[in-house]
Amino acid sequence: MFSSTSLRFSLLLLLLSLSSLSHFSSSSSDPSLQESFAQCLSLNSDKNFPFFSSIYAQYNSSFTTVLNSSAQNLRYILPSAPKPEFIFTPTSESHVQAAVICSKKLNIHIRVRSGGHDYEGMSYVSEIETPFIVIDLVKLRGINVDIQDNSAWVQAGATIGEMYYRISEKSPVHGFPAGLCSSLGVGGHITGGAYGSMMRKYGLGVDNVEDAKIVDANGRILDRKAMGEDMFWAIRGGGGGSFGILLWWKIKLVPVPQTVTVFTVTKTSDQGGTSVLHRWQQVAPFIDEDLFIRVLIQPSGNETTGRTISTSYNALFLGDSKRLLQVMSTSFPELGLTIKDCYETSWIKSVLYIAGYPKDTPPEVLLQGKPTFKNYFKAKSDFVRDPIPESGLEGLWKKLIEEERPLMIWNPYGGMMSKFAESDSPFPHRNGTLYKIQYVTSWENKDEDAKNHMDWMTGLYDYMAAYASKSPREAYVNYRDLDLGMNKKNGTSYEEASSWGKVYFKGNFERLVKIKSQVDPENVFRHEQSIPPLAVPSQNNRKLRVKKYKKLD
Ligand SMILES: Cc1cc2nc3c(=O)[nH]c(=O)nc-3n(C[C@H](O)[C@H](O)[C@H](O)COP(=O)(O)OP(=O)(O)OC[C@H]3O[C@@H](n4cnc5c(N)ncnc54)[C@H](O)[C@@H]3O)c2cc1C
Ligand SMILES: *[C@@H]1O[C@H](CO)[C@@H](O)[C@H](O)[C@H]1NC(C)=O
Ligand SMILES: *[C@@H]1O[C@H](CO)[C@@H](O)[C@H](O)[C@H]1NC(C)=O
Ligand SMILES: *[C@@H]1O[C@H](CO)[C@@H](O)[C@H](O)[C@H]1NC(C)=O
Ligand SMILES: *[C@@H]1O[C@H](CO)[C@@H](O)[C@H](O)[C@H]1NC(C)=O
Ligand SMILES: *[C@@H]1O[C@H](CO)[C@@H](O)[C@H](O)[C@H]1NC(C)=O
Repeated sequence: MFSSTSLRFSLLLLLLSLSSLSHFSSSSSDPSLQESFAQCLSLNSDKNFPFFSSIYAQYNSSFTTVLNSSAQNLRYILPSAPKPEFIFTPTSESHVQAAVICSKKLNIHIRVRSGGHDYEGMSYVSEIETPFIVIDLVKLRGINVDIQDNSAWVQAGATIGEMYYRISEKSPVHGFPAGLCSSLGVGGHITGGAYGSMMRKYGLGVDNVEDAKIVDANGRILDRKAMGEDMFWAIRGGGGGSFGILLWWKIKLVPVPQTVTVFTVTKTSDQGGTSVLHRWQQVAPFIDEDLFIRVLIQPSGNETTGRTISTSYNALFLGDSKRLLQVMSTSFPELGLTIKDCYETSWIKSVLYIAGYPKDTPPEVLLQGKPTFKNYFKAKSDFVRDPIPESGLEGLWKKLIEEERPLMIWNPYGGMMSKFAESDSPFPHRNGTLYKIQYVTSWENKDEDAKNHMDWMTGLYDYMAAYASKSPREAYVNYRDLDLGMNKKNGTSYEEASSWGKVYFKGNFERLVKIKSQVDPENVFRHEQSIPPLAVPSQNNRKLRVKKYKKLD
């Protein structure tokens, strides 16, 4: 039965892709589609709003600027990448509701963008369906902090940098445990977990969310009470773009000390760095919960000096330098931290430090609300449960040195991360995880051979299989990776999805599918790796043109 349905499905896809060939050869958009959409919006929205000023069509001179604005991975805005028919930038919640209703009515596939940091461009590129549009929440960025209540309501289009700034503006002793990079969008970031330098003390962003407002597949706005605990569970870690359009998150603020301490200590492999890193694996996940020491690893030096591996220990300690030095001399003397390495500062300035801003940058930079750097990149992730032996590290250094601009970031787990059960939220990488590895390779010139970089990444990932978590080899859904179990021919079916589904969510995948089947049975919210409903209704009925998955490079 399985094989006959999948055969029919493949045939269907083949037919669909043939019939849509003519469509793909023309790149110009269809103005009537945009007019019908605007018309539908005005009929379905409570305000009489001139929608044409919120719609950027392909022929509009601002189209590319708007599309490019928050796109973090330049691979996905190359001219060869599929483009939306138009971009809609709603200015009120009712516009988002109307956009869902109208896209269904007109059979237009939607992508939703908050901060645009998706690794595989899921928020602004569809490689599987056309036509598609982008609903960009860039204009919905309200932040209401309530210190008395220890909470804040934050709108999806705000960046986490703006959120951190608005919290610190109200209080020097409140913070929130989410991402390190200040330009991440609240909307997409929190849906996938959201880890940062306070994760060992307070867990993830999703562990500290109290409520939310989401537009569902029927265009209704639901809060926690209205959506129920199943859906509220699913949106806290089940990944973006599957259950609805998040409008607001209500976050629980956490206490931070008036003075925190940060440091960065670098050791190269020819200064004994490899054995220090070996030790770090055994120490960092178990050390005092106030201390988060991540490691940035990359080649340094050149042909003349000889290439070595540089390991930078980049840390936040929720306390002063005196106590930090005590913790370090007891638990991790191998790093040789001294008082000169320590920089005492406020929590908000530690956010800037960890995000990589130069020392005297004023916190107001967090309000600029857009990415500070962009490049062409490919990234992957692993979770490590047993320390990698030094011989394994030596082999890894050989791999890194082959590549021009590789970077690895190792993030220690333990502490609060271990106190949640795997099923408390869809994010399952909990107790027993020592640390997470992120692998990145990036390049600046589009004409460079992307394929070489992608192949190098595949080789590195193969090498690391021996040291990574197994059955499944886990990965972080916020580091979206289309290589994972992506069957490039069949499109998304439940059977296919379970290969990457288990990787991102382990045993939680089944529950996510069940909830998806209840709240979005027609699969309105979908992308290359969205959670599928159990029975995908014939996509044919929805008159969607499904294109064969084509890899961009
Ligand atoms: C430079 C960089 C640094 C990063 N650092 C960290 C880090 O420190 N910690 C961490 O945990 N992660 C980190 N990430 C990963 C990041 O959390 C994810 O890429 C996240 O999805 C980004 O959210 P966004 O809103 O910016 O992205 P978008 O590209 O806008 O969205 C990502 C996904 O969520 C969906 N989505 C967007 N908005 C909504 C919405 N309102 N409702 C429902 N679905 C939505 C999109 O359709 C897409 O599938 C980093 C990524 C980058 C590029
Ligand atoms: C482009 O689109 C914006 C937003 O809809 C609109 O305000 C502007 O007038 C358009 N510009 C042109 C040249 O059509
Ligand atoms: C958008 O980005 C693409 C890819 O980097 C580039 O070719 C194009 O010139 C950019 N356009 C604008 C208006 O920024
Ligand atoms: C190599 O690095 C050294 C030390 O940083 C520097 O002085 C030298 O100019 C570099 N050589 C080349 C060829 O880049
Ligand atoms: C985590 O797992 C270890 C053993 O695998 C166990 O000893 C410990 O109690 C667990 N911690 C929590 C908080 O569940
Ligand atoms: C995908 O298609 C191939 C060939 O058509 C088939 O062998 C495979 O079983 C299909 N996989 C799924 C998950 O449908």
